[in-house]
Amino acid sequence: MNISLCPISAIDEGEARSFILPQTRLFVVKSVGNIHVYINRCPHLGIQLQWQEHAFLTNEKDFIKCSNHGALFEIDTGLCISGPCRGEKLWAIESSIVAGILEIDDAELPLAQKLEN
Ligand code: FES
Repeated sequence: MNISLCPISAIDEGEARSFILPQTRLFVVKSVGNIHVYINRCPHLGIQLQWQEHAFLTNEKDFIKCSNHGALFEIDTGLCISGPCRGEKLWAIESSIVAGILEIDDAELPLAQKLEN
């Protein structure tokens, strides 16, 4: 079953947005017109990446940044290219846009839920 997150127009280019679902926490990045959805869990310590709401990107908006210890992740792949979890990846969630609404498939969330342990 699909879960609606928000109208796609609510996320500006080069911006990120966090979401809290009953199952897990997510964040969404819109970059170069593409949408990327990740579980909000840094592979380093298994905690949230951001200290301030929606603040997931570097100042230049060219990488996802973990506020805890500065790990940098590629926006389009979630691969950590710098920091203590270099070589690991954020957990990506498939998404779709239906009638202008950003949706995810909740079938992916139980897998993601295991990461919270
Ligand atoms: S918790 Fe993210 S870099 Fe340490």
